[in-house]
Formats: sequence, C-alpha cells, structure tokens
Amino acid sequence: MSARQRDDRTGAQQGNPPPSAGGARVMCGSVRSLPAAWLLWPRLRRRALRRPASLPPYEEVFGPYAQGRSFVEVGTMWNVHGRYAFAAEAYGAIPVTAFDDMAPTPEFEAEHARRSSAVRFVQGDINDAASLEKIGVHDLVWCAGVVYHSPDPALTLRHLCRITGDWLFVASKTIPEVPGLPQASVFLPGLEAEARMPYARVFPRAMGLETPFDRDNWYGNWWWGISPSALRAMVEVNEGMRVVEELRRPFETLLIAQRTTTA
Ligand SMILES: C[S@@+](CC[C@H](N)C(=O)[O-])C[C@H]1O[C@@H](n2cnc3c(N)ncnc32)[C@H](O)[C@@H]1O
Repeated sequence: MSARQRDDRTGAQQGNPPPSAGGARVMCGSVRSLPAAWLLWPRLRRRALRRPASLPPYEEVFGPYAQGRSFVEVGTMWNVHGRYAFAAEAYGAIPVTAFDDMAPTPEFEAEHARRSSAVRFVQGDINDAASLEKIGVHDLVWCAGVVYHSPDPALTLRHLCRITGDWLFVASKTIPEVPGLPQASVFLPGLEAEARMPYARVFPRAMGLETPFDRDNWYGNWWWGISPSALRAMVEVNEGMRVVEELRRPFETLLIAQRTTTA
C-alpha cells in the first residue's frame, strides 16, 4: 500500500475509533481539535453577532463602478458561464472581456447569443505572462474564486495588477486570521487526510481538501488557505496598488483596490 493510500484510509471518516479517554490519546485528540476550533470560531462568532453568512451579490459590488469603464472578468467560466462579464456589460461597461483557461461552455455561448453580447472571450492562463498581452489593460478587473486555486497566488495577483488600469476587485475564499501571525497562509497540497478534514468541513466538496491533491487537475485543486491580511498584502506589494475597501465574511474576502500611480 502506498503512502498516499495509507493517508487516505486514516481518520474518523474511514471509521477509526475516536481517541479513548486517558493519557496521550486524549492530548492528541485535543491538539487535533485545535485547527477545527480555529476554523469554526469565525462562523460561531458571525452567528452570535447575527451577521450575514455571505458577501452581497458580486454584481451589486462592482456594478456601480462598471458603467463606461472597460471591464475584464478573470475566471469567468466554471459554474458561472460568463455571468459577471454579462452583468458588467448590462451595467454599461465597454468593452468587456471574459477570460478563462477553460473553453467557453455551451451555456456561455447561448447567453452570448441571447444577449447579442459584444463580450470578447479570451482563453489562456492568467499565470502565463503571454496572457497579459492577449487580455490587455482594463479600467476594472474582476476576479473571484481564482487565487486560492493558484500554486503561486502572489504571481496571480501580480498579473492581475498588471492588467488593472484603475480598479481591481478580487474575491477569494479565505481562512481565518491566525492569532499572532498576521499574513499567515497554509500550503494545502500534501496534507494528510486527517489534517485536511477541518478545512473540508468549512469548504465542502473542495478538490484537494475533501479529496486528495490531484496532479492531473492542477488549477482545480485548492492550493492555499489564504488569510485576509495575506491577500491584502499580496495586492499591496504591487507598486501603486492600494486596498480601499475590504468586505469580509468568515471564509471569504473581497478586496477593492485602486491604482494610485500608473503601472
Ligand atoms: C472556482 S471557479 C470560479 C468561477 C467564478 N469566478 C465564480 O466566482 O464562481 C475558477 C475559475 O477560474 C478559472 N481558472 C482557474 N485558474 C485559472 C488560471 N490560472 N487562468 C485562467 N483561468 C483560471 C477556472 O477555469 C474557473 O472557471
């Protein structure tokens, strides 16, 4: 049996008995429950404070900025089929680009035709510098659900900043801040099944968390658990980029960053 198979057979999900009372096993149990408590704490706090569970609909966040501006959505396809690019066009953004490494889905094509849309689709990898030329600089860049799928989120954010004329809106799943460790992030590939489990509880069905890392589905995996302060730092490390607003929910952060000087 390989190490990976052994890894996947460990843990309570495979029916192992819980640690029995007494001695080292209890200590191990409570140490193991620390990450779960850390991850769940923001959710409990939100419930106690009766705050909403999710961010406002994305269109409502970027819509007021979109009119009359050029707009690109990076990561436009999976499950959303260009929804935010089409929404930006409806808000009056012009021209509008939709970018993804996936080919356009039939749903995207159908919606494009139904709207007689002028949205330009560009296929490529945002981590590939050649894609930046193909996309071009846009006044407003919208990118949700992409950076934690990147092996190098700082590079992804650097590239997003390079195509940003005025405004960068970046939304990402995030982990809670680690007390005493600002800007912490967790590298997820290679974690044993038991270590992945607390993350899989708060991010169900995530590839690389609920399931093992899949080398054949490179960008489908969750690569990084990024804290909100780390996300912010990865934007602001780019010259001229300043975060002006931050919308946070327990496991998601949306940053609005403004370019203050030309790239
Ligand atoms: C989790 S989905 C998010 C979809 C949508 N933005 C949303 O908010 O629900 C990630 C999308 O980004 C695309 N994507 C991931 N990594 C990418 C990369 N390096 N370059 C271009 N597109 C990428 C995926 O193909 C997918 O369409």
